[in-house]
Amino acid sequence: MIRLSGVGKTYDDGTVAVHELDLEVAEGELVVLVGPSGCGKSTTLKMINRLIEPTTGAIEIDGADVTRSDPVKLRRGIGYVIQQIGLFPHQTIVANVMTVPLLYGESRSVARQRAHELLDLVGLDPATYGDRYPHQLSGGQQQRVGVARALAANPPVLLMDEPFGAVDPVVRIRLQDEFLRLQSELAKTVVMVTHDIDEAVRMGDRVAVFATGGRLAQYGTPAELLGHPADEFVEDFVGATKGLRRLTVTQIDPSHLESIDGVSTGDLADTVDVTATLEEALTMILRSDKGVVGVRDGAQFVGVLTPNGIHKALRASLAEPAA
Ligand SMILES: Nc1ncnc2c1ncn2[C@@H]1O[C@H](COP(=O)(O)OP(=O)(O)OP(=O)(O)O)[C@@H](O)[C@H]1O
Ligand SMILES: [Mg+2]
Repeated sequence: MIRLSGVGKTYDDGTVAVHELDLEVAEGELVVLVGPSGCGKSTTLKMINRLIEPTTGAIEIDGADVTRSDPVKLRRGIGYVIQQIGLFPHQTIVANVMTVPLLYGESRSVARQRAHELLDLVGLDPATYGDRYPHQLSGGQQQRVGVARALAANPPVLLMDEPFGAVDPVVRIRLQDEFLRLQSELAKTVVMVTHDIDEAVRMGDRVAVFATGGRLAQYGTPAELLGHPADEFVEDFVGATKGLRRLTVTQIDPSHLESIDGVSTGDLADTVDVTATLEEALTMILRSDKGVVGVRDGAQFVGVLTPNGIHKALRASLAEPAA
């Protein structure tokens, strides 16, 4: 678990980058820091692995004060994807990823093997890309290498600064999905920075919205943020399309389903599981001729979701006070 208490950073020239920040990240949780340029996101990340020392407050990882731990040892337990990717330009892709296992004393053959596995994991075929140099890869491909290298030490904690920043929206969504799939297997404790609110609500278990001046405006689940913005700044930041975005973070509520009486099973060719999001359900409804979707709990039908049910679920999720 990572805990920041009253953490502040004022740079030597007087710039207040982070102001009195309290933030907890649970083990295995993916937390996204989001906010406008210059609001202190990268500074916060770098304070967690001691690339920057805080001016005030305390940072703990699993109960240990990071300012008292040996920075070199500390960083070995923390994978770090820096904002500008930071691949070694004169080393091949495989060699870039191998640096980390080699640092840990693995043999070259084990390090190479591990690098190949990691490149596969992030969707880069080592046979195609392994012997290239960073400048021979696209921005998105370079970013994947950065993620692979950060994962190479199998660290419990992963810090990622705009890891998908340099790619077009389509590739970005693919990288996000790939990373979420990875995370569902690896369950790292992740702190990730982005300035893209869509990316934040898509990826974060919880999202910290920063305002200019390094002030934490709100910290909560995507549903809380979109349903109950804490103030006008967050409201503006999450934007006008938040009603639609909430479809992606709200699950089906079985109490809003209609009974399956009168609907022949033939109409239920399209079904979703009861754990699906409203977005997934709506996508199926739009695709189906009847304008409804069957909902199952495992193999069992539990009811039918209609557009009206989606409307009710969205309204109900708004009425619930934020946890
Ligand atoms: N070494 C430094 N000395 C003085 N000011 C700095 C230094 N590094 C960063 N800053 C300032 O601190 C503030 C926060 O910077 P930081 O890099 O944390 O922002 P950010 O939220 O990551 O922004 P971006 O989205 O543009 O990457 C900015 O105003 C920046 O100009
Ligand atoms: Mg930054």
